[in-house]
This record gives sequence, structure tokens and C-alpha cells, in this order.
Amino acid sequence: MRAGARHLLWCILGSQGAKHAALASQLWPQPLPPRTPAPHEVLCRTVYLSVDPFLRCRFNASTGVDYTQPYALGEPIASAGIGEVLQVGDAVRGPAPGDLVVEPFDSFPWQSVAVLEAAKVQRVPPLLALLLPPSALLGACGQTGLTAWCGLETVGGGRPNGSDVVAVSGAAGAVGSLVGQLCKRRGAAVVGVCGSEAKVDFLQELGFDRALNRHSADLRADLRAALLSVPQADRALGTSRSPQPVDITLYWDNVGGAVSDLVIQCMAPRSELLLCGQISTYDAEGDYPPPLPAESAAVVERRRIRRERYTVVKYKHRFAPALAELCALVAAEARRRGRRDAAPELRAEETVYDGLDAAPAAFIDMMGGGNTGKAVVRCSELPPPVARAAALRAWLPPALRGRLVRSFVTPEALGVG
Ligand SMILES: NC(=O)c1ccc[n+]([C@@H]2O[C@H](COP(=O)([O-])OP(=O)(O)OC[C@H]3O[C@@H](n4cnc5c(N)ncnc54)[C@H](OP(=O)(O)O)[C@@H]3O)[C@@H](O)[C@H]2O)c1
Repeated sequence: MRAGARHLLWCILGSQGAKHAALASQLWPQPLPPRTPAPHEVLCRTVYLSVDPFLRCRFNASTGVDYTQPYALGEPIASAGIGEVLQVGDAVRGPAPGDLVVEPFDSFPWQSVAVLEAAKVQRVPPLLALLLPPSALLGACGQTGLTAWCGLETVGGGRPNGSDVVAVSGAAGAVGSLVGQLCKRRGAAVVGVCGSEAKVDFLQELGFDRALNRHSADLRADLRAALLSVPQADRALGTSRSPQPVDITLYWDNVGGAVSDLVIQCMAPRSELLLCGQISTYDAEGDYPPPLPAESAAVVERRRIRRERYTVVKYKHRFAPALAELCALVAAEARRRGRRDAAPELRAEETVYDGLDAAPAAFIDMMGGGNTGKAVVRCSELPPPVARAAALRAWLPPALRGRLVRSFVTPEALGVG
């Protein structure tokens, strides 16, 4: 690091409660003099940052929940992140200069150089890059994957199976794309709702049974047609012996609002609604989750649908088996382009935005549906040993990668223990 270098710090200035479209004008670069880390701190060069919908709630005057607070004026934005250690405090044991470290939750500040508490970061073994793209530690092999896996395993009636018809909203996003793929692996029929025709194609590539564009002229009719034609519909014959639309037995709700109101109308009696997120409502102040409109609430009550609010951090006791499965599947994912025979394992799709300067625009783009899979910002290059290991990844057979990765992926090793 050159002496006297200036570093960008993205922080919030101006009033809170603004629509996210207006946030760009409130995010200004600030000079940040790098400081020497205190005894229990590490100084890092930022390599990747995670771009997450929950940040939007922190721009409001109230987040509506008690576990995350609104940003104070001038406070740096922070999310999960990955950095290269430049310097460590005297009392730090573990990470050393040149190591890659991950902060998997929400306290890596959006700065090019950041001082972090050593206890909040975990050293990433350089050899792990032989098996997994390091950025996957912010997505399918990090909090995003844990959200999908723990929700499906632990909420409601347990893992979906071949008799389930699952609907997923926000289906082409970070969490949704993994939820759909994990449900397909478990034999369920999966209908995904996403925000463009390109994303419809993407969901079909992932193996979703049906994919719908939420901007279509008649989403209600599209949903009914999808539920008439999923494989389970063949088994649901009506009195005329023609297939009937099947009812949804599990709805993974990432978005709330109009999409969810339509899906709820198609849910089976005593089915499950897993309330993961309500992104369509994050611009508004108020309690979380917001109340359902009367018509949807009446359906939920009449059909005794179990609508359960879900937060991944409550399931830390399940992180170990979750990471073992997720990392093995991601590591074993073959390059399927041009190989129709290769079965998908778990595709950890990413939308990568380049440079810290692009971070506010990346956030706004993600909130507007510009991302496919996990949205991340690549702020700088990987440290050379990690980059060398990553360059060799393609040479290892996918199945071997899948087996080897299990020796590295304890929750402690990835910082989520
Ligand atoms: N409960 C938990 O522990 C937990 C943990 C992580 C995330 N979450 C929640 O899970 C959800 C997905 O998060 P993610 O990180 O995977 O984000 P993401 O799906 O990768 O990105 C957000 C997506 O939301 C969709 N969207 C935006 N505005 C919308 C609207 N008005 N109506 C419908 N869809 C809209 C857009 O996709 P399309 O345009 O393609 O529809 C956009 O790409 C969020 O609600 C988030 O808060 C919850």
C-alpha cells in the first residue's frame, strides 16, 4: 500500500427514508486515512462485497425488526465481504498478511481498505480456491446457501419431496435460484416466478419445471397454466378425466406484494408458506412482515395455511450439514455448456459488478431485478496464491472437487460457526 494513498469509503449522507432509486445521490466517496489496526483488529484490502436486499431496510428510519438497526448518518454501509489481510494487530492469532479472510454476515464495510475485528473474520485456506470460487463464500456456500438449505430442511414439514409442488418467488435471485434447485434435487415440482424473459430461460436451464415472468400481461393465467402442466397435474385428474391444476403445497416467498397474493390463491389447504423476505415492501416504513391484504389473509385462514416467518440466523445448529452439502454440490458442478448429458449439481450463478465505485449502482440494480443469482461487487484482485489455486480449478474433475471440499468446509473454517 502506498503511503498517503486515499481510499474510498461509501457512507450515507443526507436524509433517510428515501426511495432506493434516489440513494445513489446520497452515497459519496470520502477520503479514508488507513489506520494501524489495534491489537485485536486486522487491516484488509477489500476483494469482494455482498449486495443484499436487507440493506434497503437499514436506509429507512425504522427497519421494522429488532435484530438490525437503521444506519446512522455517516455510518459506512456494511455487508458480508472478503478481503486480503494487509496488517494485523499485535494480539491477533490466525490471519496473517497475504491471507484471504471472509466476514460472512454483515459487518464488512464498503471501503477499499477496512479495519475489522479479527474475531469477526475467518482465514480462507488458499487451497479452497482449487475447489470453489472464493466469491461463492458470499453466496451458495455462505449465508445465501444457508438460507435456502436451512429453510427447506427445518421450517414447516421438513424437506420437500416428490409429492410437493413448490412455488418460489424471486426465483432467479441468489436465494430463490438455490431454493428451486434444491427442491428439484429432492424430487418436487418447482414453479419459479422471476422478472424477465431472460430469467425465465435461466430458470429452465436450472431445471425448474415452469418459470413465469412476473411482468407478463396475465400472471394469474400463466400461473394456472403452469399448475395444469407440471408433472404432478397428470396425477390430479378431474371428473372429466382431464388434468386439473394442482395446488401449491409449499410457497417460498422472497417478495410479498402482488406476486404473493396471486400465489396464495393457488395454495393447498394446510400447505406451508415460508416467509423468507418481502422485497416488494422494503421501500416502505412499518412493521415487518407487513400484514397481508384482507383477501389473502382470508385464504390463509380458511385453508389453514401455515405462514411462518423465517430467519436463517436462528438455525446455526444446522450450518455444518448445510455447508457440507452445499459446498460439495457447488464444487461438483460441471461446466455444462455444450454438455447436455451432464446433470446439474448446484449452479451458483453470480452477477459480478466491477469496482467499489460501482457498489451503490450495483445495489440499486439488484433491487430493480438487474441481477441473476448472487449479486457481488469485485473490488480488487485475489491475493496471488489464491488466484493461482483458482486458476487450476478447472483441471480437477468435478466429482473429485466435490469429495475433497468436505475436508475444508466446517462452519468454523468459513466463519459461520
Ligand atoms: N430470512 C432470511 O434469513 C433471509 C436471508 C437472506 C435473504 N432474505 C430475503 O430473501 C429475499 C431474496 O434475497 P436475495 O439476496 O436472494 O436477493 P435476490 O433475489 O438476488 O435479488 C432481489 C430480487 O428481488 C426481485 N424483486 C425486486 N423488487 C421486486 C418486487 N417489487 N416484486 C417482486 N420481486 C422483486 C428482483 O428479481 P426479479 O425482478 O427477477 O423478480 C431482484 O433480482 C429478499 O427478500 C431478502 O430480504 C432473507
